[in-house]
Amino acid sequence: MEERLVASDANSEDISLEYSLRPKFLSEYIGQDKVKDNLKVFIEAAKLRGETLDHVLLYGPPGLGKTTLAAIIANEMGVNLRTTSGPAIERPGDLAAILTSLEPGDVLFIDEIHRLHRSVEEVLYPAMEDYCLDIVIGKGQTARSVRIDLPPFTLVGATTRAGALSAPLRDRFGVLSRLEYYLPAQLAQIVKRTADILDVEIEEEASFEIARRSRGTPRIANRLLRRVRDFAQVRGDGTITVALAQEALQLLQVDRLGLDHIDRKLLKGMIEKFRGGPVGLDTIAATIGEEAQTIEDVYEPYLLQIGFLQRTPRGRVVTNLVYEHFGMEVPK
Ligand SMILES: Nc1ncnc2c1ncn2[C@@H]1O[C@H](COP(=O)(O)OP(=O)(O)OP(=O)(O)O)[C@@H](O)[C@H]1O
Ligand SMILES: [Mg+2]
Repeated sequence: MEERLVASDANSEDISLEYSLRPKFLSEYIGQDKVKDNLKVFIEAAKLRGETLDHVLLYGPPGLGKTTLAAIIANEMGVNLRTTSGPAIERPGDLAAILTSLEPGDVLFIDEIHRLHRSVEEVLYPAMEDYCLDIVIGKGQTARSVRIDLPPFTLVGATTRAGALSAPLRDRFGVLSRLEYYLPAQLAQIVKRTADILDVEIEEEASFEIARRSRGTPRIANRLLRRVRDFAQVRGDGTITVALAQEALQLLQVDRLGLDHIDRKLLKGMIEKFRGGPVGLDTIAATIGEEAQTIEDVYEPYLLQIGFLQRTPRGRVVTNLVYEHFGMEVPK
């Protein structure tokens, strides 16, 4: 799969820069007001009572700020953050080692928590519920179960696929927060904040220009800003003006709704070869030479979200918005 400028997953450049771009406290975290308001109350209450915060599950599409929020929760509580991920914990013993090394009140962040092995998950249940581990020592006749107490801790789990989480695990979280796509005005604020950190001048209107093409996703907004900044430094005097942002994004082939050549290939392919559908996912996949799973997980979500594609029992259909966007005549 080729690398896309508008991919919502982190590439290696994102990863190396994201640490410095992450807001550290709730007050710097832009948007997601409902999630923030709730967390604020729970954090305050836990601090007043001198207790640990309830376990928090953060879910939503890639790049919306789950990892960022996990670190903010630890900062706001004034405790350490321990970070791991579902696939990284291979055996129950690995998780036991992490849990027994926590300090009272610590936040344990498990990213991609839907990918925990079943056997590991089972260790997590009593740990979340009663702050203890049940460990079996010995084998056969002499085997006995020993209970080990753990320090109280807060588990923060993150997942892009809440549906893939087992019910017993989901039920053990006290706070479930769903992150939503950001509005252009919020993304414009994020772009301005990042520009400040990177020490680049940007016109107000230019930050909106980038925001509108960022597919509701801060990670994409930050990435587009970096590319446009390169342009401003080479072609201009370093300041990002609207005209420069527009020119740069056009050259980068990201259109005014944030669609790139792959989106256009997919949508135009459906229109030209199948009169806009309905057409099955496998057929689309074969036509544009991609895997059906990739289309479903990577290409399609944003197109569904902006109402360009619809799922029907007979397959995918492009909507009138697509014809209008491409300046094509809407078929009767
Ligand atoms: N509310 C926000 N305000 C400012 N910047 C944000 C916000 N949310 C996310 N970002 C920025 O977007 C980038 C991506 O966020 P983050 O890594 O937290 O996303 P994620 O949801 O964990 O993604 P993934 O699902 O891929 O793990 C971060 O570098 C951060 O700077
Ligand atoms: Mg993350």
